[in-house]
Amino acid sequence: MKVLVLCVILLQGSQHVSAVELYEGDSVLLPCDFYTFDLDDPTVVWSREDLRPSTVHQRQHQGDELTEQNQAYRGRTSMIADALDSGDLTLNLTNLQLSDSGSYTCTVRDPRMGQRRVGDVQLQVKERFPTWAIVLLSLLVLLVLAVSGGLLFHFRHYFMSVYKVEVASGVTSAQLPCKTTAHLPVDTKVEWTDKDKWTVHVYENGSDRPEDQHEFYSNRTKMNEDLLRTGDLSLTLKYPTDEDTNTYTCTVYSKKGDILMKKQVILDVRGDQRSVL
Ligand SMILES: *[C@@H]1O[C@H](CO)[C@@H](O)[C@H](O)[C@H]1NC(C)=O
Repeated sequence: MKVLVLCVILLQGSQHVSAVELYEGDSVLLPCDFYTFDLDDPTVVWSREDLRPSTVHQRQHQGDELTEQNQAYRGRTSMIADALDSGDLTLNLTNLQLSDSGSYTCTVRDPRMGQRRVGDVQLQVKERFPTWAIVLLSLLVLLVLAVSGGLLFHFRHYFMSVYKVEVASGVTSAQLPCKTTAHLPVDTKVEWTDKDKWTVHVYENGSDRPEDQHEFYSNRTKMNEDLLRTGDLSLTLKYPTDEDTNTYTCTVYSKKGDILMKKQVILDVRGDQRSVL
């Protein structure tokens, strides 16, 4: 076994085989050294034998000779300026593609010496983010979005802006604002309730419905005429007292009973300060 290994090394002679592993978009230096400064008119060729044309890069004394270069490598290869004088024949390959994976051969040609295969470099370019990772990540993002969206929907009332109205007791009326920019259809139902779920005012099918309202609010509420056209669903509460301090909810229902809008207004009716003193 040891003898066999030794034979292989001897057969390969001065060649040295290296392996490099990289990701898409990276740059890589493919190493190759040879005493080219001893030669009269050397040509260095980096090639991939599995490609047609096989030339990846070619350097002569006059400079780069890229007429036979494989177009897949166009603009992505370079060697140092004094490569042939220094013997450093390293190939700089930039913006790596998956298709760059393969075996690169560094060959030196000279009229006196003939052709010499100096080295092989195995290059393995990997996807930076494999498809399964992208799919998994996308699913995770979707899951997070769905969960947070559901939570937002569930707790949407906490995020609704709450309007606060303060009036002194003894004023003739308090105005609880509720406005929508939408042009509401004729069959829209608007309902005002307080925090005890008592019905304060109902407007349905184009008219007020005092029979649906809690008797506490009887004859004390009023909504604008023409409210469907103007979208102004504000409620006027006449002669408010301390007992009317409450949180009122303005809910707009579609014909099918879906909630189109829900707004809360806090009404604070201040007692007569003088009586406290
Ligand atoms: C390889 O070539 C690229 C593009 O010309 C250059 O930016 C980079 O510095 C080179 N890498 C080395 C190590 O010389």
